[in-house]
Amino acid sequence: MRRPMVAGNWKMHGSREENARLVAGVIDGVNGCVAEVLVFPPAVYVAEVAHLAAGSPVGVGGQTLCTQAVGAYTGEISAAMLRDVGATHVLVGHSERRAMYGETDAVVAEKFIAAQAGGLIPVLCVGETLEEREAGITEAVVARQLEAVVAAAGIAAFAQAVVAYEPVWAIGTGRTASPEQAQAVHGFIRGYFAAKDATLADHLRVLYGGSVKASNAAELFGMADVDGGLVGGASLKADEFVRICVAAR
Ligand code: PGA
Repeated sequence: MRRPMVAGNWKMHGSREENARLVAGVIDGVNGCVAEVLVFPPAVYVAEVAHLAAGSPVGVGGQTLCTQAVGAYTGEISAAMLRDVGATHVLVGHSERRAMYGETDAVVAEKFIAAQAGGLIPVLCVGETLEEREAGITEAVVARQLEAVVAAAGIAAFAQAVVAYEPVWAIGTGRTASPEQAQAVHGFIRGYFAAKDATLADHLRVLYGGSVKASNAAELFGMADVDGGLVGGASLKADEFVRICVAAR
């Protein structure tokens, strides 16, 4: 009932030449795939990748956006600009943005709202650090991160959004959450929404991110509340990424 989604977060990797090769390989491989497939190139390449992917089953998104719609914000990129060049989605609150660029829960909520106002579907990233997991506060942290956005945007906004659970300790470390660990938090996230709106929770896609590879994707995606993946490192190789996309059904 929930169509799976696999999203490739290229982070700050690539060049025009590499991107063209990568996106062509992904387009080639994902034809007939059950999952909705998206790639998230660095901002300067979004337009070109969207152009290359036009008419294909591969969608394109931005990795972040400005909280503001237009104006004197040197260096920033608005939701409407991303949409103008062909993006349909945007990552919001990725842990690297939170940890390295000072994005607080409040800023993340503003970006979520700005994304929707500009016509994009936000992919809201949440997740705990290793310290927080070891302190037994994973659910409290995830609930706080969700609540900040729900309080600001309203629960109904999540009918046009995707949530990604990305435990910080699993991102780029090769240390994946076990399928059971992932399911526990995904179940918690769905329950959080179900308590507010059962129908919405039922339709909400919750992706897992953190060292997803072709070799572990099927068992992660096989869990009841895991609706696909947000893939970093393994999205930079077309054949590996395609195998992950195929594993989501
Ligand atoms: P990873 O990154 O797959 O390289 O762990 C995931 C992410 O940051 O979205």
